[in-house]
Amino acid sequence: MEYKIFGKTGFKVSSIGMGTYYDFSYIIVSRIFGIKMHRERSIAALRLGLENGINLIDTAEIYETEPLVAEAIKGYKRDEIFIATKVWPTHLRYNNVIKACENSLKRLQTNYIDLYQIHWYNPRVPLEETMKAMEYLVDVGKIRYIGISNFNLEQTIRAQNSLKKYDLVSTQMRYNLLERNIEKDILPYCIKNNIAILAYYPLAHGKLSKLSPNYENIFKEIQKKYGNKTPAQIALNWLLSKHDIVFPIPRASNPVHVKENLEAAGWRLSKEDLVLLDEITF
Ligand SMILES: NC(=O)c1ccc[n+]([C@@H]2O[C@H](COP(=O)([O-])OP(=O)(O)OC[C@H]3O[C@@H](n4cnc5c(N)ncnc54)[C@H](OP(=O)(O)O)[C@@H]3O)[C@@H](O)[C@H]2O)c1
Repeated sequence: MEYKIFGKTGFKVSSIGMGTYYDFSYIIVSRIFGIKMHRERSIAALRLGLENGINLIDTAEIYETEPLVAEAIKGYKRDEIFIATKVWPTHLRYNNVIKACENSLKRLQTNYIDLYQIHWYNPRVPLEETMKAMEYLVDVGKIRYIGISNFNLEQTIRAQNSLKKYDLVSTQMRYNLLERNIEKDILPYCIKNNIAILAYYPLAHGKLSKLSPNYENIFKEIQKKYGNKTPAQIALNWLLSKHDIVFPIPRASNPVHVKENLEAAGWRLSKEDLVLLDEITF
């Protein structure tokens, strides 16, 4: 596995991470019946990634997957793993942030969270109040770094400016070959300020793992040049090859797919091939 420094943290994180948002029905069944659907398969998928060097796992209090992450990382050295979780926007008042963090720590069965992210901006809660709680959590060692997710550029700048003692180390945004909105403003801002980007939906929710008539020819040409890489590997590598600060987090729930996605790292598309892929219109 290949590793890159995660923004301003100095921490070496695998260039591909593992996402653990399964789906809405998973959350509902977990909430109502306490059943984690496909539990064993999901844990096996996460463990396969860990065994092969992936050390970045993304979860969230809303996903109901923190307990699976706890199970998967058992037996691994805690300080070699980078756990990213998120606080839901209804928990952004000072005391609620602290309580949500403590609950996540219990579910994750750990003493600290590496990256604590605000899942979505909430206009009803001043960012200064939320960030004050986040900084308190860093001070007492319950979280190591502060991140955001789904913030527009203006909100991102405000999030950074609301922090008094620590830097904003990352944002998490939807980013893949089909959805490149962040390239307009957030991506250049993050490059300039060394803010890492966790790219969610890196496979456009699985769409990019299949060939489409819109880009079949280009993908096939690229497959030939790089030892028959699969469409998913090309789509993930496109994110890696374009920007050092981007870390794709494809969903990890199936060991077969995790194995395939591991091979998306450790190589780079040439500049010419990146241009070819950039020019695809979907
Ligand atoms: N911050 C946010 O608001 C936010 C929102 C959404 C997601 N996220 C995070 O981002 C992660 C990724 O997003 P996502 O799961 O929605 O989208 P994704 O990773 O783009 O796509 C997931 C879909 O692709 C499939 N897949 C994965 N690897 C594959 C492969 N090699 N070949 C074929 N299919 C493959 C998965 O199936 P299998 O599961 O069967 O492998 C799943 O159906 C989430 O798990 C979560 O951690 C964050």
